[in-house]
Parts: sequence; structure tokens; C-alpha cells
Amino acid sequence: MARDITTVGVVGLGTMGAGIVEILARGGVRVIGVEVDDAAVERGLARIRTSTARAVERGKLTEDEQTELYGRVSLGSDLTAVADADLVLEAIPEQLDLKLDMFAQLDKICGPDTILATNTSSLSVTELSVATGRSARVVGLHFFNPAPVMKLVEVVRTVVTEPDVLEDVVALAEKLGKAPVVAGDRAGFIANGLLFAYLNHAAAMFEEKYATREDIDAAMRFGCGLPMGPLAVLDLVGIDTAYNILQQMYRQSRDRLHAPAPILKQMATAGLLGRKSGRGFYRYEAPGSSAVVSDAAAGTTVAGTPREINAVGVVGSGTMATGIVEVFAKSGYQVTFVARSDAKVGAVTGALTRSLDKQVQRGRLSEEDRDAALGRVTGTTRLEDLADADLVLEAVVEELSVKQALFENFDEICKPGAVLATTTSSLPVIECAMATKRPEDVVGMHFFNPAPVMKLVEVVRTVTTSDDVVATVHEVCRRTRKHAVDCGDRAGFIVNALLFPYLNDAVKMLQANYASADEIDTAIKTGAGYPMGPFELLDVVGLDVSLAIERVLYAEFREPGWAPATLLEHLVTAGYLGRKTGRGFRDYAKK
Ligand SMILES: NC(=O)c1ccc[n+]([C@@H]2O[C@H](COP(=O)([O-])OP(=O)(O)OC[C@H]3O[C@@H](n4cnc5c(N)ncnc54)[C@H](O)[C@@H]3O)[C@@H](O)[C@H]2O)c1
Repeated sequence: MARDITTVGVVGLGTMGAGIVEILARGGVRVIGVEVDDAAVERGLARIRTSTARAVERGKLTEDEQTELYGRVSLGSDLTAVADADLVLEAIPEQLDLKLDMFAQLDKICGPDTILATNTSSLSVTELSVATGRSARVVGLHFFNPAPVMKLVEVVRTVVTEPDVLEDVVALAEKLGKAPVVAGDRAGFIANGLLFAYLNHAAAMFEEKYATREDIDAAMRFGCGLPMGPLAVLDLVGIDTAYNILQQMYRQSRDRLHAPAPILKQMATAGLLGRKSGRGFYRYEAPGSSAVVSDAAAGTTVAGTPREINAVGVVGSGTMATGIVEVFAKSGYQVTFVARSDAKVGAVTGALTRSLDKQVQRGRLSEEDRDAALGRVTGTTRLEDLADADLVLEAVVEELSVKQALFENFDEICKPGAVLATTTSSLPVIECAMATKRPEDVVGMHFFNPAPVMKLVEVVRTVTTSDDVVATVHEVCRRTRKHAVDCGDRAGFIVNALLFPYLNDAVKMLQANYASADEIDTAIKTGAGYPMGPFELLDVVGLDVSLAIERVLYAEFREPGWAPATLLEHLVTAGYLGRKTGRGFRDYAKK
């Protein structure tokens, strides 16, 4: 018989516990919150107050509802207060010994029918359940941060969980307006199982000074449309919590990509715990605040004086080249683009005109500005017409020999002092640079597709690129209203190096039958607020393109965990390349 869960005990009122109390009480459930001592109770209450006040301010909660909410909550430091609850959820720190001890205590205190739940992100629910005499009534109930906002709740079953217990807990999550997904007991479950290797990698990238914290975060926000950058997410999660989660994941997976980046341990030891302590990767106004204050580590400083850029040359006639021509022309640059035939010149001009016309129709561009932009663009089939360009950017096929030959031509044709750029997403920029006798003038400008829409440009400097060339590209990005991030010349730069191993992990999770593509996509969207789930994204990017990037990353870093998933290789072999062929991870013809 289904039990109605009307009273819930929450143990631990930290980052997660306080949010969970709020969401339960908002959902009409009576809540008994417990902390270690009176001071900790006060801190928990303060967290709930801040969060509900913000909800009232934003019109998401009325003042009456807020009062009713407090009427359902009782907080204290006596654990026996949860004795009569229908379900008790612990949200104490992510340490196995603490949680084992807590479960043993709760088992003694609570009646035999009480469901015991853990909010653990990575510990084995099975291991916790056997610390009690009721392992069939122990589940994982994994909320996401911030609990009142994120819709996902992973309901974790062990091999002995009673089905009706699972049903009742799923029903509770639904009553709270959450989107529950049932998952088996594996470290990290679905969402963290995919996200923590990525977060860890971002921390390592920062630690080795590959890019600044601002650039790493901006790259993922502007390059992938993520709501937050990875280092800001780690600060939100809590550095100590993230460290413990990774430790546990490594313990189970033995995957070195889960071995916590050393910097996380240093930060946790030094008390730099993220938002909750007022300082983590970033510094915050006060402990618990989300407002970042600038500090000594902030920002990128670009040395060198920018060269003057008026005339720009673009080589190529594909999607990227056409988009980049538009970006430059709309920002007031004179643009000469080079295509291989008159037909291709016509196709680029046609696509550009249609794109600008659409913006006029939508009221985003005036007719005068459209005409002016088109007036600045000249198409040609002769590379020699780039002789006067101040900046030349190539966006031709992703093949090294083709690009190298082009850079040899640039070297002969372009005037001294011209900046020579490649928009390659995976080839070494230095190979292009060394095809010229002026490698100091060569730089990577990695745009994202569609170029007129995506704000990010990765500025790739090689070991030979001069400071003023980097400064010039920054100035061009500022004028074209792009967000420039600096990175070194290695496979994947920032975005693809962080994104594709995560996508590959999703394929491996699917291949292992741990969760379905729908469950994984839902977990990532509702648990982390990503605009698309990994399988939606893979199908849009193209499975062949994704596999090619994964191969380049694997060849460069030789990271065993980055070897492309077999399932991805098979789908590509079968010609299931994603949306463009009507079938990838999903079948689009059916819809
Ligand atoms: N932070 C996140 O983003 C996140 C997301 C989902 C799940 N989790 C999981 O939730 C759990 C809690 O994490 P957190 O980030 O809220 O940690 P936290 O450090 O913010 O809070 C833990 C709280 O537990 C209290 N506590 C410790 N021992 C206790 C005891 N014996 N009795 C009562 N209270 C006790 C502490 O005083 C502290 O306030 C962990 O298992 C974590 O992995 C965290």
C-alpha cells in the first residue's frame, strides 16, 4: 500500500539541506530539520531565510506562503526529533564514516517503517544501507544545487530496495514539483557521473595555467551556452564537497579523470571552499554570497599595442567563412572574401544577403545598415586580391596540407605586418605559422557556429605569436562584439577539450546500459540547467564531426578515458551521423 509521506526529517542544514527543507515545506510537507548544535541551526535558518526572501522578492513566493512555509518547519539539534517522520533524509558532509554513523543512529531512533534516504552525490547507497537493519527501505534522494531551483532529483535504488518504497519516494519528488529520474547505485549517478570529470578537468586546466579562470568560465558559457562556467560551478558546489565526490568516484571507477586535481585538495585544506566560505576560485562579497568581487587574480592583461586593422580578408566559402564575413562586414570592416569558383562567390553573397535580409525582416537591422554591410563586401576567386588586407583569416576545409599551402600563399601575397589567422578547431596553429616566414604574425581565431550568433572567439597563441598580434585580435574581437578568451596551441583549445570528453562519457554511459539517452539528456538539462542534453548536442554537431574531434583529443593527450566510445564509432560507420542524415542517437524521420 502506498504510504503518504507527510513528515520528513532533514539532517544537516548546509548548502543542500537548507534548500531541501525549503522545497519540502513549500510543497506542503512538515519538516523537522536537525543540525549539530544551536549555532549550526541558526546558520541553517539564515540560509532558509535568505533563500525564501529572494523568492519573495522575485515574485516566486507570496508573503503568506512564506509564513505558512515557516509554520511547517521545526529546527533543532536533537536528532531524536525525527523519530516519527515518514522519511528521513541526511545531507551531512560527503564522508563515508560520518554517513555510516548517521544511518546507524537513525536506524535506532526511527520506527521500522521510516524510509531512510541519503543526499549523497557519490557514496555507495548500498554500503550506507547495510549500516541499518532496513536496507530494503534505504534509497538515495539526490537533489541538485540550488535545491529550490533545479528540477532534477535522482532517486537511487539498490539491488534490495523495495519497489513500493521507490514508488513512494518518486511520488514525493513529483509532489514537490521535481522531475525524478530513477538510477542504479553507481558513483555520481547520472548527472555527476558525467559532470564531475569535466569540472575536474577545468580545475586542472586552471591549475596548469592553460587559461585564466575568467577565460575558462567564459569559454563554456559563450561557446556552449552553459548557464555557468565550470569553476563558478565548483565554487557553488563547495570545493570540499567536490573534492570528496571526486575521491569517491575515483574509488569506484579507478578512472584517473576522476582523481581530484591537486588544487582542489589545497583549496579545501586552506578553507577556500567556494561561495559558502566567501572564497574559492573566485572571491565573494561575503560567505554565502553569490556576488563576485574582483581580486588580484582577476582578468587577462594583453601586452602589446594593437596593429591598425581596416581591410579584412576571409578565405573559404562554407558555413564558417560566410558567417565570419557577415561578422566583419556588420562591424564596419572592408571585407574581401576568396572562394574557389565564381559559383561559390555567388553562393556566399547569396547566403550573406539572405541572412541580412532576415535580420531586417525581424527588425534587428535597418535597411541602411544592411546595404552598408553588403557594400563593404567584395567576393573574388583570386588570392592575390588579399595583398592589401590588414588581417587575413582562413576558414577552409579542416585539412592540414590545404591550410599549410594557403599560409605559404599568404606569405607571398600579403603585405608586411598583416595578421594571418586560422579558424581551425583542431589542427596545430604552429603548423600554419611555420609554413610562412613570419610565424610571429600567425594566430588562431576560433569562432563558433553560427559565427554571427555565438559570442566566443578562442584566441590561440603559438610559441611564436607576437604580443601585438594577440592584442590586435583582441581589439578586433572587441569591435566585432565577440568575447575573446586566450589559450595555448593544443588540441581542443578550451571548449572542445572540456566538452567532448564529457560527450564521450555520455555515450559510454548509454553503451553500458546504465541509463537511456532520454534519461541522460533530462538529467543534464534539469540537474545542471544545460540548454541541451549530450545526445541532443551530438546529433546537432554531427557524429562524424564529434568522432573526429575526439580522435584528435585522444591522439594529442593519450588519455585512456578519452578514447572514443565504440558505440559512437559504430553509429558513424553505419552512416547515422545525426540530424543531417535524419538519424543519429535519435531517429528524426519518425517524428
Ligand atoms: N553541494 C552540492 O552542490 C551538492 C549537490 C547535491 C548533493 N550534495 C550532497 O549533499 C550532502 C551535503 O552537502 P552540502 O554541500 O550541503 O554540505 P555542507 O558542508 O554545506 O553542509 C553539511 C552540513 O551538515 C552538518 N552536519 C555535519 N554532521 C552532522 C550531524 N551529525 N548531524 C547534523 N548535521 C550535521 C554540518 O554542520 C553542515 O551544516 C553531501 O552528501 C553532498 O555530496 C551536494
